[in-house]
Amino acid sequence: MTNTDNQALKWTRKHLIGLEDLSKDEILHILRTAKGMQAISNRSIRKAPALRGRVAVLLFFEPSTRTRTSFQLAAERLSADTMEFTEKMSATRKGETLIDTAKNIEAMGVDIMIVRHAAPGSSQLIANNVDCCVVNAGDGQHEHPTQALLDIFTMQEQFGEDLTGIKVAFIGDISHSRVARSDIFGLIKLGAEVHLIGPRTLLPGGLKNYHPNVHLHHHLDEILPELDVINLLRIQLERQGALNFPSIREYNKLYGIDERRMKLAKPDVMIMHPGPMNREVEIASSVADGAHSVILKQVTNGLAVRMAVLSLVMSAEDSTIASQM
Ligand code: CP
Repeated sequence: MTNTDNQALKWTRKHLIGLEDLSKDEILHILRTAKGMQAISNRSIRKAPALRGRVAVLLFFEPSTRTRTSFQLAAERLSADTMEFTEKMSATRKGETLIDTAKNIEAMGVDIMIVRHAAPGSSQLIANNVDCCVVNAGDGQHEHPTQALLDIFTMQEQFGEDLTGIKVAFIGDISHSRVARSDIFGLIKLGAEVHLIGPRTLLPGGLKNYHPNVHLHHHLDEILPELDVINLLRIQLERQGALNFPSIREYNKLYGIDERRMKLAKPDVMIMHPGPMNREVEIASSVADGAHSVILKQVTNGLAVRMAVLSLVMSAEDSTIASQM
């Protein structure tokens, strides 16, 4: 059954941990809700009352520029109070466990925990141990669901809601990328063709037969002319320990997107990057700042997507919120 009417699907999940568990209809429901949320940001008074009196805590154990500020703004735009947890100043430095930390924060009357942590499974672990809503803002190499949702939302703005047959590439460090994992789960549910491109050391072999719509490539220039969307991924030096290729210079030569490669690509190819970028490594500045780039549009769309996610998870707890959306 397809959810053609956004009202037809009743949202029941109080946590968002990843896109692997969501159905196509649930993903479309979030994206359609986000479309409605965009209107709030275009009003003269950019506030809606949906989460008035609610408290959202930003529980970030890893650095973030985009996700943290975007979630904070999203919660405040929906009139929630926000509280920022600073790991460096917290009792985790004295050995307090993640579960004890989460339970103590919840005891102050928190309604939503937005969690980023280096350990895969950390958001689910917290969700298993608290009563409030939990939203995963990136857990190690596992998932980054709101990044994938905003990526898909941005693709839909160019290609329409139905992404069937759209060829979407991820170039680079797929092995360490929670963004790529979440995007792969979401995109194949929406019918897109996913092309994973990079050196053998950065492409997980397990994805080879993962799904008929997921294809692995080692030679970028062979597949480049067919791609509708190119997502560049950052080489995550902090998760690799050592380089998985001979040198940054060689990586750039084989997989970097620059003006020469843009001439091989489709004339209307869309260039995406979740950030932060390593300019002149995976992407040339002229491409990052060029006409095909939607990198800042992704950031803008992240706000509407995160407003949608926060209001949906809370609506699973309180039906009066659903009636205000
Ligand atoms: N895309 C992303 O997660 O960026 P931040 O690390 O800045 O949140």
